Amino acid sequence: MNLRLAIFASGRGSNFQAILAAIATQRLQAQVVLCVSNRDDAGALQIARAAKIPVAVIDEKQFASSSEYARALLAALAKHEVNFIALAGFMRKVPVEVVRQFRQRIVNIHPALLPGFGGKGLYGRRVHEAVLEYGCKISGATVHFVDEEYDTGPPILQRCVAVLEHDTPETLAARVLEIEHQIYPEALQLFVDNQIRAEGRKISVFIK
Ligand code: GRF
Repeated sequence: MNLRLAIFASGRGSNFQAILAAIATQRLQAQVVLCVSNRDDAGALQIARAAKIPVAVIDEKQFASSSEYARALLAALAKHEVNFIALAGFMRKVPVEVVRQFRQRIVNIHPALLPGFGGKGLYGRRVHEAVLEYGCKISGATVHFVDEEYDTGPPILQRCVAVLEHDTPETLAARVLEIEHQIYPEALQLFVDNQIRAEGRKISVFIK
């Protein structure tokens, strides 16, 4: 499939940057046609502007109702002929209208091995703190489909990292981030190559 991607990001945008780097080196054959953020100070927007990618700052607070918010998002996506959405550190729930219109064409990356250490409130440093507090020996990252809840859509690609004896949330986060930057472009390329099949929650990757 020909991917016309929208990246939704609220933060610094290192996964967005990794996706752009993969496109530049042709590891990912896709086009990022829009960057959506709920914050006008998101680092991701600077990355988009530097790459001459259109941006849209859309925050639910600007709208009288959540359906108006959803309509604004859908209008921006339609305007840029987006056919696939990648959430990359997007700190807002995607409205159900958008999830439904992009069913199986909307993915997220989470900095742990789902279904562990995910869900509402488990984001950023808190994820790694929780992994360390639990005493896990491995952690990792998950690229998964987005459904109507937080972090509950079926996993597409997961990769582990070791948790080391003296890890802090920061050192673990850095190790996980490195593999996030690998698996996100890889996962997107699987869609480009039509290698993904979904049967309920079971997502199969077909080898070319
Ligand atoms: C990443 O750790 C990602 O897994 C999570 O939010 C973080 C975003 O980081 N969903 P960045 O903005 O891509 O650097």
